[in-house]
Amino acid sequence: MSVWAVLVAAGRGERLGEDRPKAFVRLGDLPLLAESLRRLDESGWVDEIVLVAPPEWEEPAILLAEELGVSKVSACVTGGETRAESVRAGVAEVPEAAAVIVVHDAARPLLPDEVLERVVGALAEGFDGAIPALPIADTVKRVREGVVVETVARAELVTVQTPQAFVAPVLRAALTTLSVESTQSATDCAALVERNGGRVTVVPGDERLLKVTRRADLERIAGWLAAPRT
Ligand code: C5P
Repeated sequence: MSVWAVLVAAGRGERLGEDRPKAFVRLGDLPLLAESLRRLDESGWVDEIVLVAPPEWEEPAILLAEELGVSKVSACVTGGETRAESVRAGVAEVPEAAAVIVVHDAARPLLPDEVLERVVGALAEGFDGAIPALPIADTVKRVREGVVVETVARAELVTVQTPQAFVAPVLRAALTTLSVESTQSATDCAALVERNGGRVTVVPGDERLLKVTRRADLERIAGWLAAPRT
C-alpha cells in the first residue's frame, strides 16, 4: 500500500506581515517548511511527497529539500489562489496507483508521527478519510453584527487539524467532481470529501500541531522545539 503526502505550502501568510510566503518565514535557522518536510520524510507512514510551493518559490523549495537531504520528494508544483486549488495541483502529481493521500499544512511544522499513524491507520477501518481533531474548551456562540444569536452546543463540536488521510481515489473524485467554485471556500480537504458523500472519521489531534498564523504562534512553536521530546 503506497502512501503519498501532499505538503501544501503555497499560502501567502499575510497575517504574519513578512516579506515572504509563510512557509519560508524563519523558524530557528531554517524556513518553516523544513520541519514538516523533514518529519514527513523520516516517517515510516509516508512513501512519497509532493511539495506545493508558492509561485516563484518552487526553486527555493527544491533547494531546501536538497539541503535537508530528504529523499521522498517526487515533485514540486506551483500552488493556486486557494488552498483547495493548491491541493488539486499536488494531487494531480500523485500516481493512480497510490492507495492513500495524506494532505498536510506546512503551516503546522510540529507533526508528531503518532498522528500520522492514527490517520493512516484509521483508513483500515473502512473510512474514506481520517482527520485529527481536538475538543473545544471554550463556550461557542454564533454572533451577527456584534450580537449573540445562539449559544452552540459544544459537546459535538471539534476543531480540526492536518495531517488528513484519504483513500486516494475518493479524494481525487471529490476534487474532480466538485466544481472549482464550490471548492473555493473549503478550508480543509475533509470538507470536499464530505460534500462528495464520503465518510470521514476523527482521531485524536495534538496541541503541537498548532497552525502558524501570527508571530506569537511561531514563538510558541520555537519554544516547543527547544524543549525536549517535541
Ligand atoms: O492560510 P492557511 O494558514 O489556512 O493555510 C493552510 C495551509 O494551506 C498552509 O500550509 C498554506 O501554505 C496552504 N495554502 C496553500 N495555497 C493557498 C492557501 C493556503 O498551499 N492558496
